[in-house]
Amino acid sequence: MGAVQIAENIYWVGAMDWNIRHFHGPAYSTHKGTTYNSYLIIDDKVTLVDTVYGPFSDVLLKNIAEITDPSKIDYVVSNHVETDHSGGLPAIMALNPGAKVFCSKKGEEGLRKHYFGDWDYQVVKTGTQVSLGRRSLTFVEAPMLHWPDSMFTYVNEDAILLPNDAFGQHIATAFRFDDEVSMEEVMVEAAKYYANILTPFSDLVLKKLEEVTAMGIPIKMIGPSHGIIWRKDPSRIIRAYASWARGDTREKAVIAYDTMWESTAKMGYAILQGFVDEGVEAKLYAISSSDRNDIIKEILDARMVVVGSPTINKDFLATVGPLLDDLKGLRPKAKLGAAFGSYGWSGESIKNIEERLASAGVTIAEPGLRFKWVPTEDELERSREYGRNLARRLKDTG
Ligand code: FEO
Repeated sequence: MGAVQIAENIYWVGAMDWNIRHFHGPAYSTHKGTTYNSYLIIDDKVTLVDTVYGPFSDVLLKNIAEITDPSKIDYVVSNHVETDHSGGLPAIMALNPGAKVFCSKKGEEGLRKHYFGDWDYQVVKTGTQVSLGRRSLTFVEAPMLHWPDSMFTYVNEDAILLPNDAFGQHIATAFRFDDEVSMEEVMVEAAKYYANILTPFSDLVLKKLEEVTAMGIPIKMIGPSHGIIWRKDPSRIIRAYASWARGDTREKAVIAYDTMWESTAKMGYAILQGFVDEGVEAKLYAISSSDRNDIIKEILDARMVVVGSPTINKDFLATVGPLLDDLKGLRPKAKLGAAFGSYGWSGESIKNIEERLASAGVTIAEPGLRFKWVPTEDELERSREYGRNLARRLKDTG
């Protein structure tokens, strides 16, 4: 798709990647594709804010060419080094070797180490302003949101915030604005993005939101580097970020398990029924047939996570480990947890899952539940009662 005007003399010139299904290598599933958003500002100084993933450089150049000559760019802003946004820089700089490249200090370090170009770097800090002619930009450093180099660019006269990855979503859409697409779909992807990428930086997110609020700058539009542009209601995604960053949860449990011969699965379904008995929303996932990023998205607003596995080699199943590893890295706030599973002779999986949940900052709500071999009807009833107990604990902490 071609360039799209987002304000007078400001254009989206990015690229749509409809068919990408994994991002960050295999680490992040993108069922709905993504976009690489790049913004072109036509002023006395023609300015490009961020580029695109390298293989889409031709698309970027073509979109810019719809508006102006791609070899007439004076300034390039690089809000973030990661290659999905800086990959188009070599193509732009080859056409504009004298262009100034505005970035953070860490940004310069990272860009030099990625592209080895001896470009005209202009290191900026929070509060640095640069005039483009009729317009001016203000920069806000945002270290660890989500890389050390990350920063936001604010277009002062138009009150447009270009915060790169922040407030983004991995979703390809035919239209560019929040009022033109399904918000339900977009918010699911925004939550998934936050849950899988920004959760470990939640305290920094809160601080940054406070800092930007204290600056007292109006925000009429937010143009992130992935997904749709927030023009109808930018406050919607800001409120959502504040809630996710605080670790707000609701009466909801996520049960994630794997199983060898269905005994642990039977326990999982019985536990689920216990939550239902107590009127608490619960979702159940067999880990090896589910998408881990989707499970983590569901955990984002759940108050409880219940993990099940049989025991093998004195541990939980290998398929369960990556979810526990992710939780340890993400360290979600304010979660209760529990473990369950069947076993044959030693049954260490429960203790090991509990330890791993605790290392992720999850509070163990009830001692784990384990049964030998195939659970009997009585044991399944006890599993259901276990679910009811967990549901009551969950409600008590609301
Ligand atoms: Fe941190 Fe979209 O790259």
